[in-house]
Amino acid sequence: MRVSRWAVLSLAVAALPALAAEPLKIGMIASFSGPFADYGKEMEAGIKAFMKLNGDKVAGRKVEVIFRDTTGPLPDVAKRHAQELVVREKVDFLAGFGLTPEALAVAEIATQAKKPMIVMNAATSVITAKSPYVARVSMTLAQETAPLGTWAARNGIKRVYTLVADYGPGIDSETAFKKSFTAAGGQVVDSIRTPLRGPEFAPFLQRIKDARPEAVFVFLPAGEQGIAFMKGFVERGLGEAGIKAIATGDVTDDHVIDAMGDAALGMITSSHYSAAHDSPENKAFLEAYREVSGTLGRANFMAVAAYDGMAAIYDVATKLGGNIDADKAMALLKGWKRQSPRGPISIDPDTRDIVQTVYIRRVEKRDGHYYNVEFEQFPAVKDPAR
Ligand code: PHB
Repeated sequence: MRVSRWAVLSLAVAALPALAAEPLKIGMIASFSGPFADYGKEMEAGIKAFMKLNGDKVAGRKVEVIFRDTTGPLPDVAKRHAQELVVREKVDFLAGFGLTPEALAVAEIATQAKKPMIVMNAATSVITAKSPYVARVSMTLAQETAPLGTWAARNGIKRVYTLVADYGPGIDSETAFKKSFTAAGGQVVDSIRTPLRGPEFAPFLQRIKDARPEAVFVFLPAGEQGIAFMKGFVERGLGEAGIKAIATGDVTDDHVIDAMGDAALGMITSSHYSAAHDSPENKAFLEAYREVSGTLGRANFMAVAAYDGMAAIYDVATKLGGNIDADKAMALLKGWKRQSPRGPISIDPDTRDIVQTVYIRRVEKRDGHYYNVEFEQFPAVKDPAR
């Protein structure tokens, strides 16, 4: 049978909608078990909350999120998952990444495979420099910390001891605090770095107490460590000795703050997100989160970043008509903007890192629960480290 050129062309055109109807696949890598299990679960709930409000289809394609557990922090496992998601599942996007070492390991795969990689938490500044295919929708520790250093010095705190987790985000946080705090007239009397896994805070707390600073500045990865630190802080009488605790919002993370109880009351922290943030976007987010999160507990900054990360993916997919070309996707992510539940956010076109408001907050008790209540803000903060 002779087939005319027109017939071939129309066959090819007819094939297009079929191609577009392939699922849009997102390979989501995070820890869902082990010491940082809640990181993956919070992000998963953020993703589901977004899909609950915005549907599971974009640009004619059904959205399929494939979850992979690193059980980590285990960079090699994260890398293996990424390879498998790219090669076998043929994902359109890589996403997730609670912990810096895992994000760093996967950035290499993003470059090799040319896959847009949406970082939904991991917060060491250098991550976005590791691949042109990385965009970050969460935060950097330098971005969170620098405003707190400035605020502390301006508010009568002059001598500070720093204590941070001894890995990328902790070191960035220590560096940023020293820089902004000393620039505003403060003095860092000494610094401690604690192990990422299983830190024992008692000896460190004693050392800090003996040095008699006005405050201790703390960064610890969100979760159990902050609870253990604040418990020790109270038990060892640092508060009674007149020492204040100031921290990044990771320590008084919404997900664990009720477990800290009165130990956290009055504490000053800096962060881009509080569940107590008063806006229609946050209200809608929290309602959807509640419906999808089961017994997980309160939404935190990781859930919000995942929710916004999905918004970025949906926007890019819509603009590309469902055909995800990595370079075109990255071009669209540069300068992308949104009114997030945390406030206005955008992606810096030069660094592919997030620009956002950083809030100074105080822990207060409301209706029997503890919240980070925002009282001052630093708008449009870029990552100061790059
Ligand atoms: C990170 O590993 O980059 C990280 C983990 C937990 C946080 C912040 C940063 O709360």
